Amino acid sequence: MTLAGLDRRFGTDAAVLVPAVAHSDQVRAVFGGFPAAVVALCAVVDGAPYGMVATSLAVGVSYDPPMALFSARNDSSTWPVLKKAGRIGASVLAEHQGAACRQLAAKDADRFAGLSTRATGHGPLFVEGASSWMDCEVAGELAAGDHTVITFRIHQVGHGPETPLLFHDGRFPRMRHEHIS
Ligand SMILES: Cc1cc2nc3c(=O)[nH]c(=O)nc-3n(C[C@H](O)[C@H](O)[C@H](O)COP(=O)(O)O)c2cc1C
Repeated sequence: MTLAGLDRRFGTDAAVLVPAVAHSDQVRAVFGGFPAAVVALCAVVDGAPYGMVATSLAVGVSYDPPMALFSARNDSSTWPVLKKAGRIGASVLAEHQGAACRQLAAKDADRFAGLSTRATGHGPLFVEGASSWMDCEVAGELAAGDHTVITFRIHQVGHGPETPLLFHDGRFPRMRHEHIS
């Protein structure tokens, strides 16, 4: 984003920093303006599929061993159930899976209706047609305000031809395959 773009969003001089107040418009604008990949975290627990969507998943936390992290809302009712699986499937959703994202994040809906998934037999559940996949084991937890940071040890990975789905400013912008350097 250009400085002029920031000006428009804050309606103020972009060079001025303001206190990061919880739930303030400024914090929302900065967090929402942070482009992120959309990841479905899914597992089979006691024979039933559970899943949620996360944009806080970050990879490259460690390369040896391969690790990722994810930040779970403390008021999430799905995460405590998913966690019980021990091994969780992380599917980096593909550009054409915006509707799947909304469905997997919905409060009162069958999150898996019409969704093509692949179970591995030991817990993780993967979304077919995604951009890439990681078989993750919960390795640690760290309290972080109203969230809990979860570290994942990645046991298996898979990568397909699809372009990943991005989330930015509450929308799914299409990735432009132009390189500026
Ligand atoms: C684009 C998007 C990103 C999200 N990212 C996260 C996240 O990083 N961490 C999280 O705990 N919930 C995240 N959520 C919310 C969950 O996917 C889900 O909606 C929420 O957990 C539903 O409530 P429940 O856990 O009580 O079922 C996100 C939702 C959307 C739509």
